[in-house]
Amino acid sequence: MAKLSQKDVLRADQFTAADIDLILERAATYEAALDAKRELDELRGKILATLFFEPSTRTRLSFEAAMHRLGGRVLSVSEAKSTSASKGESLHDTIRTVHGYADAIVLRHPEIGAAEIAALATTKPVLNAGDGAGEHPTQSLLDLYTIRNEQGKVDGLTVALVGDLKHGRTVHSLATLLSRFSVSFLFVSPSGLRMPREVVERVQTRGVAFQETDDLGRALREADVVYMTRIQRERFADPAEYDRVKDAYVLTRAALAKAKPSITVMHPLPRVNEIATDVDALPGAAYFRQSANGVPIRMALLALLLS
Ligand code: NCD
Repeated sequence: MAKLSQKDVLRADQFTAADIDLILERAATYEAALDAKRELDELRGKILATLFFEPSTRTRLSFEAAMHRLGGRVLSVSEAKSTSASKGESLHDTIRTVHGYADAIVLRHPEIGAAEIAALATTKPVLNAGDGAGEHPTQSLLDLYTIRNEQGKVDGLTVALVGDLKHGRTVHSLATLLSRFSVSFLFVSPSGLRMPREVVERVQTRGVAFQETDDLGRALREADVVYMTRIQRERFADPAEYDRVKDAYVLTRAALAKAKPSITVMHPLPRVNEIATDVDALPGAAYFRQSANGVPIRMALLALLLS
């Protein structure tokens, strides 16, 4: 039985080229099974716990849909205040407890590094569903899968990552994961929200070309893929600073008229104001296909980690 190189999914840089191939291939077979309405039961008898200590729609529900689609069952916590964390229990003790109830644990938590701490508290697989402004590795896999499906390839593409690159965990993981391919990056952000230096260094170490700019118009003329992100209001200490940058980039139909006709528009969602709603009807607007891809990708991860 094929296996991933590690028991947990914590960071995008943990994936080997073989891991990536395995996950994407498996996801494609599950996507075909879902399209054909074929019922699967590979994870019958298994229980997944989803612990979400920050808000989520897509990540939690697509993990849960994935587990159900594979015949497994789910225990779900969608608010920290409904757990003993609100009584002062440590993350270690919460995870050590859930270890006794479930076969794998999906965790979203406001602190960077929380998933690593959780993984040390259990021998069961832990999947990082977002650790504060840190990483979101399972999102980067579905983003990669979406890019490959929409563009038919990954190598040779110019990918523009736009918005709050400082706090956006999806772009930290996606830049890291895509650095395994021959892509070039445009990092587009207001000057105060640039990509963290450690992510830039990771990209540089892999020899991937990148440019940093605050000019979305320029990026749109060059990009094959434009990946918009929300300004992460909850990470700002100063609300006035958030108000200053919140509408920094709004992608419109008019702006896209100057882009390549084949451009793919992505967004991890939720969208606040970053993409005008009339963009949704364009053939390259891939963000709802992207969110649907969360199910086959997370089915692949769960099956590879649990069966
Ligand atoms: C993102 C997240 O939670 O990091 N959403 C997601 O998981 N699809 C993006 C965001 O909140 O802006």
